[in-house]
Amino acid sequence: MNKRVVYLGGEYRPWDEAKVHIMCHSFGRGSAIFEVIGFHGTGSGPAVFRLDEYVSRFFRSASLLEMDPPLTPEGLQEAILQTVKRSGLRSGFIKVFGFYPEISFKILPPQQRFQVAVFVFSPEEALGDQQESVNGSVTACVSRWRRLDPQTVPVEAKVAANYVNGMAARMESRERGFDYAVLLDTQGFLAEGGTESLFLVREGRLLTPSLGTVLQSVTRKSLLAVAEEMGIETFAGRLSPGLLEEAEEIFFSGTSAKLLPVRQAGDRVLEDVPGPVTRRLAERMATITSGRDSRFQEWLFPAS
Ligand SMILES: Cc1ncc(COP(=O)(O)O)c(C=O)c1O
Repeated sequence: MNKRVVYLGGEYRPWDEAKVHIMCHSFGRGSAIFEVIGFHGTGSGPAVFRLDEYVSRFFRSASLLEMDPPLTPEGLQEAILQTVKRSGLRSGFIKVFGFYPEISFKILPPQQRFQVAVFVFSPEEALGDQQESVNGSVTACVSRWRRLDPQTVPVEAKVAANYVNGMAARMESRERGFDYAVLLDTQGFLAEGGTESLFLVREGRLLTPSLGTVLQSVTRKSLLAVAEEMGIETFAGRLSPGLLEEAEEIFFSGTSAKLLPVRQAGDRVLEDVPGPVTRRLAERMATITSGRDSRFQEWLFPAS
């Protein structure tokens, strides 16, 4: 029996009550939207990083798929903060789900009873599958699977069905002996990892693929802002895969991946990983998320 509390359908309920029927629409069609959010220990207790941004992305996913969450963004923020408080954890991850619990045989979702659930995990539970990183760095190869094309599905929606893309790419990379995958878009430009954004450093400039085919990552947006503030030049645009051969530094980023340096891209082995720009950015992000940076205090939402 798990003692944890889950926010579900407007109430705080025991973990073991968070169940749905296998025949429900979200299980059969992958129509569950979700968010993964981090919270960190600060001098004044745990604080959720950029809660407003994640909640607004959740509502954006809902709106792209015509879902109607039964609470407001402010109500969801409050439910998330409460669930973190009730977990008693100092740091960890939050998973928010929006889903259709109704039994359904049809492709069109049942419009009634769209539910929201919030779970909290310790870092050890959440990061269990990131054991592949050696000394904090990973190997990666370009996958044969292309990133989902925005003309086929709403790629901006963080919906379970979209994640077979990253799953297939990661399984392929594992088969080829690599830890992570780099996906190109359908035009052949760099896109992102299976569930991470991609960054490169070239001649001291921080490069990342532009939005359009990639997820509107909160970490990506934060890193671009922090880099600018640190005087590191940034560029978000179309990037050719040849840059994986030329970049001085390559790293993945994301809420759970944080900054994950790449020490080998395909056959190319990179020297001195993490490189200086990756290291500076990682240190600055750690200072910000732990509440020790007065310039980015508004990114922290206290849960104490
Ligand atoms: C496809 C994809 N790209 C990038 C990211 C990183 O996004 P964020 O920084 O908001 O966690 C994720 C996160 O899960 C993802 O699924």
